[in-house]
Amino acid sequence: MNTKLWAVDKENPIKHSYPQIKQAADLLEQGEVVAFPTETVYGLGANALSDQAVLKIFEAKGRPSDNPLIVHITKQEQLTGLVDNLTQTAHKLMDAFWPGPLTLVLPKKEGVSQYVTAGLDTLAVRMPDHPVARALMEVSGLPLAAPSANLSGKPSPTTAAHVAEDLTDKIAGIVDGGATGVGLESTVVDCTTEIPVILRPGGVTKEQLEGVVGKVDVDPALLTESSTSKPKSPGMKYTHYAPVAPVFLVEGSQQFLEETIIKAQNEGKKVGFLATEETILKAAGIKELTSIACGTQADLTTVAARLYDALRAFNSTDVDIIFSETFSKTGMGTAIMNRLEKAAGHKVIKE
Ligand code: TXA
Ligand code: MG
Repeated sequence: MNTKLWAVDKENPIKHSYPQIKQAADLLEQGEVVAFPTETVYGLGANALSDQAVLKIFEAKGRPSDNPLIVHITKQEQLTGLVDNLTQTAHKLMDAFWPGPLTLVLPKKEGVSQYVTAGLDTLAVRMPDHPVARALMEVSGLPLAAPSANLSGKPSPTTAAHVAEDLTDKIAGIVDGGATGVGLESTVVDCTTEIPVILRPGGVTKEQLEGVVGKVDVDPALLTESSTSKPKSPGMKYTHYAPVAPVFLVEGSQQFLEETIIKAQNEGKKVGFLATEETILKAAGIKELTSIACGTQADLTTVAARLYDALRAFNSTDVDIIFSETFSKTGMGTAIMNRLEKAAGHKVIKE
């Protein structure tokens, strides 16, 4: 398949890039799969109402069929055909955070494709806050089922180039709207219980959610390192976000970080170092270290925005092993550490 690439204006695509948006929307209407930017990561979209179209997503990504998809919408009226019996809490969360990086797991209606939900009786829905995603849905008139637009197991794409790296010739097209903003996927919240439960930490923090609805729980499977409990979000059980070289999280002082790096170098390893600008600067004395910066400690949203690009960048180096700095698990740090722990397969070296 010849993958089309459309560069579009990301501020006002309908006004400035209508022909490109229309071509992409037409392909979606014809049941094809098209990648597009959202405010979190690039999504791989297909008509959520067509089984044939949805199956193409699983095929292109190599995604296990037991991992359900998020349906993207542009207006709340679209919920009518998709979900039912919404709680007060669900309404409050939508009003507060949509459009934005929050996915709600809701009781699904009869007739929603079993391929989208992987046979579950709930449906994950979100309203993205990105003009390009919204334009595609407005012009096509379709709700779009869309996972992140990476090959299964790879870091999620934050640029059109990342999507092209993984999916060229496997999908009908890529709408290039530049780099995404948040850089990590949406927060997934189960709203089928009285107290909502975070199934995947993401762009909206627990603190922000609690500011709107009071108590919010966290899926116990997210809290245990050895993951004895089965996650309620099927996708959370797979290894993810991993570059080719093994990743180890290093927890401890700057001195311990540096000693860990030097020890591995003395064993003959080519070491990669994933850390913030400040930490890399402090370790500047270490020779032959391949450092890739992910943002600044002063603002963890910059780390979230840079993380996946940094993980991918190690694949064009010759490192044998990657050591990563760690972050405190509060605010955006929770989502960052969740992704880093998965990239590392939970391998942690502690001081
Ligand atoms: O930011 C995002 O959410 C991006 C952009 C493209 O919107 N999408 C995304 O989709 O990250 P994906 O497929 O990579 O991750 C969706 C996650 C998976 O962990 C999946 O198992 C979970 O949501 N999920 C989907 N439907 C669910 C359901 N009914 N119940 C529980 N978890 C569900
Ligand atoms: Mg994904």
